[in-house]
Amino acid sequence: MCGIVGYTGDELAKDILINGLKRLEYRGYDSAGVALEDATGGVTHIDVIRRVGKVAGLESELAGVDATATCGIGHTRWATHGRPSMANAHPHTSCDGRIAIVHNGIIENFAELREELAQRGHTFTSDTDTEVFAHLIEEAYYGRPAGVAAGTTAGAPAALGCHDLMAAVREACTHVVGAYGLAAVCADEPGVIAVARKDSPIVIGRGARGSYVASDVIALIDATRDVVVLEDGQFARLAPEGITYTDAEGTPIEPAVTHIDWDIDMAEKGGYPDFMLKEICEQPRVVRDTLVGRMTGGELTIDELGLSLEELNLIDRVYVIACGTSYHAGLIAKNLIEMWARIPCEVEAASEFRYRNPIITPSTLVVAVSQSGETADTLAAIRDARIKGAKVFGITNVVGSPVARESDGVIYTKANKEIAVASTKSFIGQVVSLTLLALLLAQVKYRLTVGQVRMLFRELGDTAEQIQWILDTQKDAIHEAALACKDAHSALFVGRGMGAAIANEGALKLKEISYLHAEAYAAGEMKHGPIALIDPGFPVIAIATKSPVYDKTVSNLKECEARGAKIVVVATEGDEDIAQIADHVIYIPPVRDAFSAITATVPLQLLAREVALMRGCDVDQPRNLAKSVTVE
Ligand code: AGP
Repeated sequence: MCGIVGYTGDELAKDILINGLKRLEYRGYDSAGVALEDATGGVTHIDVIRRVGKVAGLESELAGVDATATCGIGHTRWATHGRPSMANAHPHTSCDGRIAIVHNGIIENFAELREELAQRGHTFTSDTDTEVFAHLIEEAYYGRPAGVAAGTTAGAPAALGCHDLMAAVREACTHVVGAYGLAAVCADEPGVIAVARKDSPIVIGRGARGSYVASDVIALIDATRDVVVLEDGQFARLAPEGITYTDAEGTPIEPAVTHIDWDIDMAEKGGYPDFMLKEICEQPRVVRDTLVGRMTGGELTIDELGLSLEELNLIDRVYVIACGTSYHAGLIAKNLIEMWARIPCEVEAASEFRYRNPIITPSTLVVAVSQSGETADTLAAIRDARIKGAKVFGITNVVGSPVARESDGVIYTKANKEIAVASTKSFIGQVVSLTLLALLLAQVKYRLTVGQVRMLFRELGDTAEQIQWILDTQKDAIHEAALACKDAHSALFVGRGMGAAIANEGALKLKEISYLHAEAYAAGEMKHGPIALIDPGFPVIAIATKSPVYDKTVSNLKECEARGAKIVVVATEGDEDIAQIADHVIYIPPVRDAFSAITATVPLQLLAREVALMRGCDVDQPRNLAKSVTVE
C-alpha cells in the first residue's frame, strides 16, 4: 500500500516525483523519499533524500536542494516492517549506494535472505523487508562473493555480475517470495529504471518528455493517458528514449495498452474543503451511474456476471467476502439476498474466510467486494474459493484491478477514483451493485416477478434524489449532533434489522477518522451487556427509520434514555414522535427498508466527518491507515 513513482527523461525529475508522490499519498504517508541520479565531474552518483511524515515535508526539504537529475524514483510509505523512521523510509540502497530501490508489497522470506546476505558481508541499515531487494540486485549486478559462513549458501561459489540492471532485477526476483511492485536505479546505468511486479500494482506510461512508472495511474495522468498495467511476472526497462518489456526469462513482450478516459479533475477536490466531503456529495451520481444500462427492455441485466441464467439458477449458497467498509456492504447484501432470493448468504471477513474450511460446492457463489480491487486478504480468499470450486464474482471500483481480473465476472461500482482513505461513495456503489445482484438472483429463482423487480429498480433509482435531499437539508442537524459527540470517549451505534447493519458502517467511519472509540450493536443486544457502558451524556447514535422493527428499536432507545444517554437518531422525515426521546434528530426521506442503507448511511458519514474536524483530525488521511491494504 505504499506509493511508488519513477521518471526518466529530459525534465527535472525532482518536481515530477514530488507531484506524483502527492497524488499517491493516499496509499501511505508515514515517510517519503526520493533517489535522484546526479553527476559530479562526469561521474554519476545517487542522492537519497528522505523525510519522516508526509510528502509536504520532503517537498520543503527538496526545495532547498539544487538537483539537476532527470532520472529518479520516489516512495511514500505505509509501514509494515519497521516503524516509521528515516532509516526505514525508502528508497533503500545497496552497500555502496550505487543502486537504489523503492518497493511496495511484502517480502515474506526477507528474514532468511537478510541472514544469508549479511553472512556474505552485506551491511543493513534499516529494519525493512525491502532492503534485501537492494542487496540482491547489487549481488546480481556486481557479482556475489563466495559463501563465507555457515548457512544455506556456505561454500557457494562466487558469481560474476551481469552489469545489466534489468537482468539483475529479474535475477533478484527469483530469490524473493512475496509481493512486490519495484523500481530500481543504478548509478552505473544512468537514465535507466528497472521495474518488476508481482501482486502489487504497477502502471507504466510514455509521455512527450520521458518515461514514467507509478503504483497508480493517477500519478501519470498529466503525462499520458495511454498506460501499460504491468502483469505479474512482467518487467519493464524505462529509459529516456523508450520502454521495453520482458517476461521472467528476459524474452521481449508487448503488453496491452489501456487508455484512461477519466479526467484529473475527477481526482481533485473540485472546490470542496476535503476529498471526503467531495466524495460524499458525489453519491447521488454514483447511484445513477451504477444503475445506467441495467434495465434494458424491461429486463434487469448484469452481462458481466460470467454466469448464464441457468448457472445462476443453480446457486444455493452465497458467501460475501470483503474487508472493512466493503464487508459492511456485504452485511446489507445478506439481508437482501435472503429476503428476496431466499438463498442462504453468509458474510465473512476475507481475512478469516481462507483460514477456515467453508462449505463450498460448485453451486456456491462467492461475491468478493473491494473498492480498491487489490486488498490482499480479499484476493487470497478469492484464490482459495476458486481452488475449492466456487464461482467468484467481483464487485470493485477499479477497472483491471486484481479482483476484477481474478474473478469469473465483475461489476464496476462507477464511483470513480476515491481518494479519501475513508470509503464513502464506493460503499454506496457497492450497496447498489449488491442490490442489483440480489434482485437478479430473486428473478432467476422466480422469487420476484419481473414486474416486482422493475418496481424495486425504480425505487432504487429514487435513492439518488433522497441522498441529495439529505445533503441539502440536514447539514445543521448533523452539525448539532456532532457537537454533542465530539468530546465523548466512546460512542455506540445501534439499530435493528437493516439498521443494525448500517450501524456497523457508522461506527467504523467515526472511529477511523475521528479516533473516537465507537462500537456497533444490534439494539436488542444492548441489554445483554453494552448498556452497562451508558452513563449520563454517553452518545448513542441510532438508526430508527420507519421499518417493521421501528417500535422495537424505540423501546431499546428508551432503555438508553432512562440511563442518561445522549441520543442521536437517524429517523424518517415526518416522524415527530422520535423527538421525545432523541436529543438530536437527523432526518432522511421515507424509503423502503430494503434501500434504507443507501440513504441512512449518508448522515452517518457526514456526522463522522464533522466530529473528526471538530477534533482537529485530518479526514482524508487518518493516522495508521492506507487506502489500499495490500498486505495480509
Ligand atoms: C474504509 O473506510 C476503510 N478505509 C477500510 O475499511 C476499507 O474498506 C477496507 O480496507 C477494504 O478495502 P477495499 O474495499 O479496497 O478492499
